[in-house]
Amino acid sequence: MNTQNTLNKELNNQNKIKIKNIEINSKVISAPMAGITDYVLRKLIRKYSKNCLLTTEMISSEALVQQKECHIIHSDNEEYPISFQISGHKPDLIAKSAEILKEKGATIIDINMGCPVNKVMKATDGCALMKSPNIAADIIKAVKDKVDLPVTCKFRLGINQETINFVDFAVKMQEAGADAICVHARTRVQMYSGNADWKRVSKLRGEIDIPYFINGDIISEETAKKALEESQANGIAIGRGLLGNPWLPAQIDNFLKTGIKSQPKTLQERINILKEHLDNEIAFRGEMNGIKFFRKFYPYYIKGIKGASEYRGKLVTEENYNIIIDILENIKNQNE
Ligand SMILES: Cc1cc2nc3c(=O)[nH]c(=O)nc-3n(C[C@H](O)[C@H](O)[C@H](O)COP(=O)(O)O)c2cc1C
Repeated sequence: MNTQNTLNKELNNQNKIKIKNIEINSKVISAPMAGITDYVLRKLIRKYSKNCLLTTEMISSEALVQQKECHIIHSDNEEYPISFQISGHKPDLIAKSAEILKEKGATIIDINMGCPVNKVMKATDGCALMKSPNIAADIIKAVKDKVDLPVTCKFRLGINQETINFVDFAVKMQEAGADAICVHARTRVQMYSGNADWKRVSKLRGEIDIPYFINGDIISEETAKKALEESQANGIAIGRGLLGNPWLPAQIDNFLKTGIKSQPKTLQERINILKEHLDNEIAFRGEMNGIKFFRKFYPYYIKGIKGASEYRGKLVTEENYNIIIDILENIKNQNE
């Protein structure tokens, strides 16, 4: 076993992960989600988890080099450690974007090599890069040459079951200079269907020295533990599990460190957090934009409560802040 492997193992035992020179005191990453993991949600995740690695939504390199200021790259020091994710396929543009994002406070630069959406694939971005490992490697090299930050990438098992290539791809990314990788354990064709194949990702153990993260279907303390065991990964990335659940990385982190499961949040607590999330989106985007943007989150926060579908119907159409607050108070009172 080489030195890097031994070091990874020692850190693993302490529930820490080192990505190049950055030591992260947690095995948990909040995964990038476009339209979801904005500045506001990340700050809420950070309120509960001081240590997890946050990730921005994917940032288009084409758009970024033309227009340097936008909501999507807004960040502040309290978010540290934070990975800024870039999408695109042109090494020089992505490297230039990395330079801009370093100025904006990126701790780590992550490259999107897993997005399965048609529009992104057609542009030869996202998961399409798994069909062009040489271009993917050139991207990693170009970013490494331009900025002295750790560089990571996130990809899938492969394009489809017949062309699964994540092991070779991971080795190639490591050779190109990647400092860590994250694997969503599904193919591009699967999109989000079927179960994430955590066990399959364990094939990486022994093939690469850099840390790897397992992603897909991690929604609780138990699934986090199982995903880590089956994949033998160094850490986990949580995506959809964060929806209506921004405290999840903290709970999982605590469980992995202590073996103690957290009490579920009460309805009162959940509604208070919902309100905080809503208020902060309004402060960030302005009242009407904030109210409309937030609509996607209600179903997750109120899932499983008595009368959820009726409340949801009202909340996702209401434009008046005071009426929204009344509905939320109603939910609390009626479900006590
Ligand atoms: C709404 C949505 C937006 C996403 N946006 C991104 C993105 O910008 N970059 C990326 O690498 N993955 C993105 N993903 C994929 C997630 O990061 C994650 O890989 C996937 O949801 C599987 O993990 P999960 O089961 O924990 O959600 C997105 C997923 C969803 C549902």
